[in-house]
Amino acid sequence: MKAAVLEELGQPPRYAEAEEPVPTDGLVVADVRAAAVKNIERALAAGSHYGSGRLPLPCVLGHDAVVALPDGRRVFAGATPPGGAMAERLLVDPEQTLPIPDSVDDASAAALPNAAASAWFALEYAGQIRTGQSVLVLGGTGVTGSLAVQLAKRRFGAGKVVAAGRNVERLGRISELGADATIELGPADEPVAAQLARHHAEHPFDVVLDYLWGKPAEHVLRTLANDDLAAGFHRTRFVQIGEMAGATIELPAATLRSAGIELVGQGGGSVPREAFGRIRSEILPAVFSMLADGTIAADTQVRPLSEVTDVWTTRAPSGVRVVLVPDR
Ligand SMILES: NC(=O)c1ccc[n+]([C@@H]2O[C@H](COP(=O)([O-])OP(=O)(O)OC[C@H]3O[C@@H](n4cnc5c(N)ncnc54)[C@H](OP(=O)(O)O)[C@@H]3O)[C@@H](O)[C@H]2O)c1
Repeated sequence: MKAAVLEELGQPPRYAEAEEPVPTDGLVVADVRAAAVKNIERALAAGSHYGSGRLPLPCVLGHDAVVALPDGRRVFAGATPPGGAMAERLLVDPEQTLPIPDSVDDASAAALPNAAASAWFALEYAGQIRTGQSVLVLGGTGVTGSLAVQLAKRRFGAGKVVAAGRNVERLGRISELGADATIELGPADEPVAAQLARHHAEHPFDVVLDYLWGKPAEHVLRTLANDDLAAGFHRTRFVQIGEMAGATIELPAATLRSAGIELVGQGGGSVPREAFGRIRSEILPAVFSMLADGTIAADTQVRPLSEVTDVWTTRAPSGVRVVLVPDR
């Protein structure tokens, strides 16, 4: 069968022949309908992810897909390289799959689960969000950030959601998706600092979801800091999730002493193992149901699997998830 095959870390995958999956021990061969290209697969293949060293090479990339089971049911399924999801066919355990509502298209169903599970945990577990609270999403223009904005507003009842990003066109779309306000992260520092300070003064941020780190995170932490020993206490949970703007920051020690900042992270190792069961039992069914009734939306671009190398080397528009569909 044809698949997106990675032969060497740091190189893009090629559309090439891969081993045909063989049914075994309750696992069945399903036809892949759509597999999303996410940052985690890009980072693993690039060799820049902490898990890259464990990627068996050569391998078929892709951690999840929408598939058709042999009995015709359309479901969402997980995958593990070397038998990844960016292929014509995939070995799946039908018991571990999730049904997809008829009104949800393949591309949206493939695009959202990873982002949804992460955004949900970031808000509920790491952010400990409460109804009416004020949320800042740094990098709200991205796929995961956009979903975090929607979930914060429409699932967790945030009182105010501010989305910050550098892509002005995409910020407009984020307003349509539910952000109460947006901040353009332009090249000049002062306007960004002034807008952050205004929003924090109006309705102090309770939760910050940070998909950027780097300079934007430094701006926010400076905004949260106090310069007055008598300043009132306000707890802000700063949740570190992605590093699109830089892998490191400068953080003056006094910032953490001057305000109620709680610096936490969201990722594989920062969520208790027992919570992962909720992704299948609770979180993804809720996300599919919100997609089905239009409460949340995904912006996707469908490309043929045969174009995987081009997909890998070209940037997708901001906030749009590319979904690979096998050529039939
Ligand atoms: N830990 C987890 O559980 C988890 C889960 C999902 C994602 N993530 C991470 O979170 C990050 C975002 O994921 P995503 O799925 O939303 O990615 P995405 O769809 O590729 O979006 C990335 C966004 O970041 C913006 N951006 C890039 N560099 C920037 C900069 N220097 N300043 C401001 N904005 C910048 C991009 O805007 P432009 O269009 O302007 O480039 C784009 O809107 C990634 O690092 C990803 O690996 C972590």
